[in-house]
Amino acid sequence: MPVAHASENLLDASLFPSEQGPPHRLFDKWRQTDPVHWNPSNPDYVNPMPGSSGVRGFWVLTRYKDVLDVSMDQNRFSSFENSIVVWDFEGGALERQRANFMSMRPADHAAVKKVILPPFMPRALAGISPQIDRLAAEIVDSVARRGECEFVFDVASRLPVYTFCELMGIPEHHREQVADYGNALADVESRSSHSSDPTVGLFVIAQELAEEKRRNPDSHLMSAMVNDRTLNLDDDAINQFFLVFAMAGHETTRSTAAHFVNLMNLYPDQYAILREDFDKHIDNAIDEVLRFTSTTTNFTRTAMADTEIGGCAVKKGDKIYLSYAAANRDPTVFPDPDQFDITRVNAKRHLAFGAGPHICVGARLAKMQLRALLKQIVTRIPDIHPVGEPEWLRSIWFNAIIKMPVAFSAEQ
Ligand code: HEM
Repeated sequence: MPVAHASENLLDASLFPSEQGPPHRLFDKWRQTDPVHWNPSNPDYVNPMPGSSGVRGFWVLTRYKDVLDVSMDQNRFSSFENSIVVWDFEGGALERQRANFMSMRPADHAAVKKVILPPFMPRALAGISPQIDRLAAEIVDSVARRGECEFVFDVASRLPVYTFCELMGIPEHHREQVADYGNALADVESRSSHSSDPTVGLFVIAQELAEEKRRNPDSHLMSAMVNDRTLNLDDDAINQFFLVFAMAGHETTRSTAAHFVNLMNLYPDQYAILREDFDKHIDNAIDEVLRFTSTTTNFTRTAMADTEIGGCAVKKGDKIYLSYAAANRDPTVFPDPDQFDITRVNAKRHLAFGAGPHICVGARLAKMQLRALLKQIVTRIPDIHPVGEPEWLRSIWFNAIIKMPVAFSAEQ
């Protein structure tokens, strides 16, 4: 198959920074003319993923219905067969991917999911809600009198890191370190420039924590994982589980908060609507920001047989790229999709949390954190605005702002 020009190839880590987000001009074109689009391997792409043999290429789905249908059908489109990311893995490296909760054999995935779900259910979340509100207030306390700060790390990343640590039962003295590793983890494309591999550091903490929870079981998630008699997870599975949560719960929530503040400044009319009645609009506004930005822009599946998607043939073993970002701008579902509209009636139909058996388990928790943090921001430092252009992460995976200096009227 032909090699596409780099700027038309999703394997180009400079695409997101240059377009300030996912390349919607490409997604829109493909959705209209080539909705199951072959993205070939890119010889210029330097593979940064440890253990991966490279990227052979993949089919990009840009229609909402196709992304949804494939996400719902684990029999035909597997999360287990060849990981859930564009990078390919073989042998031991593939086995390590499969130890990850998100890529387990369906029966094992269902069993683990049963054990980890309770803390994410509404009643448990209601229990930690006051703590999250308190922390959100403390985070804004720490910057409100300064009149300026760097929003991503001084504000947005702190709540998800704290929440992850609370959920797992990670003691205070490890929290800064977990935050640093979590940040480095999302930065896949420049990982080689970090002094140490964040996965190794997180595995050390995971094993220490697992040991502690075996000795002293408690009500935290890590304790449930290591002490559940039905699961019998080995060290690899525990490490991978810890890694998934360190990454899944952190960078995504942090980026959505940063996008929120940025968008409210780009669309002052929308911000005015929100400020008029915060409680009425905030939930829909969060969904609209998720739809509009799709911080986790994609995951992948592997076709288990020669089959078709939306009338287009795919072969057994082919990788399928679920473009949540493209699906969330499909005009057949979201009229005028490039319009940012916090009153959009069906904003919550977005696929930013995925769909089907692997739908994000942390979606409610993420929204709860965002609501708590944004309430503090919008009510206490409402004129917050970026100073200069925000900086985007070099990534083929995350639509993330990684630096956004902001200014606001200091709280007296
Ligand atoms: C705005 C924030 C978030 C976004 C955009 C997001 C996005 C996603 C997406 C797209 C998936 C689907 C993966 C797939 O289909 O293969 C997913 C799964 C997952 N997310 Fe999130 N996530 C967010 C927050 C969180 C939080 C706060 C947590 C936990 C603390 C979390 C934990 C997980 C886990 C464990 C899975 C795997 C579910 C499975 O495979 O069954 N996420 N997330």
